[in-house]
Amino acid sequence: MCGIFGYVGKRVDAGSLAIDGLKSLEYRGYDSWGVAYKTGGTLTMKKETGKISGVNPADFSAACSIAIGHTRWATHGGVTKENAHPHLNEASTIAVVHNGIIENYEELKEELKKKGHAFRSDTDTEVLPHLIEEELKHTKDFTTAVRTVCLRLKGRYAFLALHTESRTLVAARSGSPLIIGVDTDGYFIASDIPAFLAHTRTVQYLDDGEMIATDGKTVLFLDIETGHEVQKREIEITWSMKQAQKGTYRHFMLKEIMDQKDSIARAINQDEEEIRTIAQAIKHAQGTFLVGCGTAGKACVAAEYFFSVIAGHHVNYAPASEFKLFHHFLKPESLLIVVTQSGETADVLEAMKIAKAKGSKVLSIVNVQGSTVARESDYTLLINAGPERAVASTKALTGQMAVLLLIAYALADKLREGKLLLLETGEMINDMLNPRYVERLEALADGIKRHENLYIIGKSWNYPMALESAIKIQEVSYIHAEGFAGGELKHGPIALIEKGTPCIVLVGKDEVTADILSNAMELKARGAFIIGVSPERRDVFDEWIKVPEASTAQAIVNIIPIQILAYFLAVKRGKDPDMPRNLAKSVTVK
Ligand code: M6R
Repeated sequence: MCGIFGYVGKRVDAGSLAIDGLKSLEYRGYDSWGVAYKTGGTLTMKKETGKISGVNPADFSAACSIAIGHTRWATHGGVTKENAHPHLNEASTIAVVHNGIIENYEELKEELKKKGHAFRSDTDTEVLPHLIEEELKHTKDFTTAVRTVCLRLKGRYAFLALHTESRTLVAARSGSPLIIGVDTDGYFIASDIPAFLAHTRTVQYLDDGEMIATDGKTVLFLDIETGHEVQKREIEITWSMKQAQKGTYRHFMLKEIMDQKDSIARAINQDEEEIRTIAQAIKHAQGTFLVGCGTAGKACVAAEYFFSVIAGHHVNYAPASEFKLFHHFLKPESLLIVVTQSGETADVLEAMKIAKAKGSKVLSIVNVQGSTVARESDYTLLINAGPERAVASTKALTGQMAVLLLIAYALADKLREGKLLLLETGEMINDMLNPRYVERLEALADGIKRHENLYIIGKSWNYPMALESAIKIQEVSYIHAEGFAGGELKHGPIALIEKGTPCIVLVGKDEVTADILSNAMELKARGAFIIGVSPERRDVFDEWIKVPEASTAQAIVNIIPIQILAYFLAVKRGKDPDMPRNLAKSVTVK
């Protein structure tokens, strides 16, 4: 989704800072970009469609100490220079960048047109600088003017406004994230931490219904509704700049797959007493529900199997976007488990709101420290995967699954056994991710890259991994991939199999092994090319991808070669796996 960056302070390279900041937000997905900064008395603005990666920050080195920038993912209005942010008022003294949607913008625009305002874009955002300009006719104070405008807005948004005359940045939040980076020399404001991680790790979070105003010397937090000041804590982020960089890897996706050499161990490094308390909460809850979106949702489906097989306990999953239809079953004694990498996904936040309205407790399993979900949950477990910047989620998934598996073991009163298994699994993954293994998968990708259809089957916890495999392959390589429960094949999908269709079969060594192998035979009998991901070689496989035997953690191990295969399918087909078309890293709109 769109990215926001702002700086005001003592530094005089704010223009270059904005370019660098926006580059760090590229992973969120965008189609145009823009910056505005004050040099001398005037506002300079630059907007472009396409990528910012080739832009040289030195070209924006004119002395300036206040700047804002934006990467836009088009919603209202096409991908054009005019629609790119920032947007300005009539007098070009106010520049605004904005994420989210102003739902009542049409009515506001009509009102402004009647007052003589002219608009240059098709965006909802452009009403903001004009509305603020109108308010400044009644007050001299920029912050008051912005607050008055906020009171008129409908929708989920975050925006940042620069005022040249007062040299102030004012930002407001209603549904989309904004974070303040506190530096000795000034303040950063961004939609995501990596935008300023190179400069500071001290942050303050803006909550919904709040705004901030800063001149670079101090920052003031206000409640939008009341106008009262709000006190904020400073939080130290544990992520390092090194973790947020690609290093020697060509793409973030591959780097993050490789991070799984040690991310499982970090995920399960949890306070044992806390895990036991959470297990008790699940045991005694009157209904435990799991929600997530996309890949995080697949971790939830895997958890349904973990909880059933390991602890004999029933939990219910719904994609977060569907959860509201199940609110009838929530009670104050119910528990909602929210699984999310970013902690900012709009549908997930909505599901939390529904559960809270019913008085239910919320446990979140999150990667981003201090994210909205993490801050608004009753219990939070951080998976400590470090920044995940590729749109395709990899290490966050396996971290989420590891934590869920650990909780399932705690629920079965076998926490130590679960921890040991997961530590061993982490070591096995470390061994598995060697250059020869990766090269083999690269060669396999080369062999199947021209196919336009690919199917994946699994049973038990390998079924959600079949679904996840499909997401991974689809989103980065654009091959049509679908995952099924092995037993479902005969009920429809087998009609799709032709001679040579690549089919991946996810296999473990457990009570369903014979069944999934017989499903693989059914595919082979129809001409499919069978790629088996399995601890053992089986006759039915045309290609065997060996994985270590990992007992109840087999799903965690089995998904890793598929992540690598998806990565190479993208690269071999000439696609950029870090920038999949039409997708964004953090989906902050419903
Ligand atoms: O940040 P979240 O975990 O809440 O994000 C959920 C999905 O948007 C995310 O997993 C998405 O499906 C990924 N692109 C999949 O790789």
